[in-house]
Amino acid sequence: MADIRKIGIIGAGQMGNGIAHVCAAAGFDVRLNDLTMDKVRSGLATINGNMARQVAKDIMTEEERKAALDRIHPSDSYDTLADCDLVIEAASESEDLKRKIFQEACPVLKPDAIVASNTSSISITRLAAATDRPERFIGIHFMNPVPLMQLVELIRGIATADETYEAAKTFVSALNKTPTVSEDFPAFIVNRILLPMINEAIYTLYEGVGSVEAIDTAMRLGANHPMGPLQLADFIGLDTCLSIMQVLHEGLADTKYRPCPLLVKYVEAGWLGRKTQRGFYDYRGETPVPTR
Ligand SMILES: NC(=O)c1ccc[n+]([C@@H]2O[C@H](COP(=O)([O-])OP(=O)(O)OC[C@H]3O[C@@H](n4cnc5c(N)ncnc54)[C@H](O)[C@@H]3O)[C@@H](O)[C@H]2O)c1
Repeated sequence: MADIRKIGIIGAGQMGNGIAHVCAAAGFDVRLNDLTMDKVRSGLATINGNMARQVAKDIMTEEERKAALDRIHPSDSYDTLADCDLVIEAASESEDLKRKIFQEACPVLKPDAIVASNTSSISITRLAAATDRPERFIGIHFMNPVPLMQLVELIRGIATADETYEAAKTFVSALNKTPTVSEDFPAFIVNRILLPMINEAIYTLYEGVGSVEAIDTAMRLGANHPMGPLQLADFIGLDTCLSIMQVLHEGLADTKYRPCPLLVKYVEAGWLGRKTQRGFYDYRGETPVPTR
């Protein structure tokens, strides 16, 4: 299998731009793709701001920041991914959408390119089946925010070849991150444990056991979590949280994974958390204000 040098990233949202950031900082050539150039530009602006913060904290130099930004090429067409050695899909958490992306993108990719999904929960085996290369398909699940988080979960589908897994492991190590291996079960390891806790926090709010502030303070100070579960849900994105709970509920057929109706209501309102400025907190003012 060819060396991985050029990385294509489909989706320039909070995960896609974070993955582009760490790949470019590690010296990889990156093509960052989204539906429109406006969305790609917005992703690039986030990377620029985050790298500037890293320069201020002496994590990278100004020269390294400029060189890394120069390595990221904006793209609004899959054709520009044709010479990539690895393409990582980081589009919204919807199986139908991801399947459509693979069906459209795979025909233009190099036959030996590896294709990966950053999905938080969806079956890698099922996504692989929507591609023309299930043996060169793998789950590479980065954590949010990508530049700060050390872990990357690797998930093999039933057909993933050993050399694909080895190449993915080498790639993750080149980013100075730590890979772990999870079996291909709904939501893998991290979100299988984390999301039911967040969903339970939302039930706690729904049943009136505590306010947003009380629940987050209780878990920060009482369980020593770095941030409260409702703040974390806003950070992940409530649409993503709901999709993961739906995958757990359907995939494991157990009522303990039933998404909280209040989570459904927030998503229906378009209150998706930080990315839309409103979720369990309202971020439009100077300091976040609880919405319940
Ligand atoms: N948010 C998290 O904490 C987190 C953590 C790990 C993994 N993930 C996973 O990463 C993926 C992306 O999540 P996110 O938080 O970055 O979401 P996001 O909403 O911030 O970004 C999704 C991006 O995908 C783009 N997109 C949609 N359809 C597309 C298409 N056909 N082609 C190209 N781009 C398209 C959207 O325009 C948007 O910019 C999801 O699968 C999610 O489950 C999220």
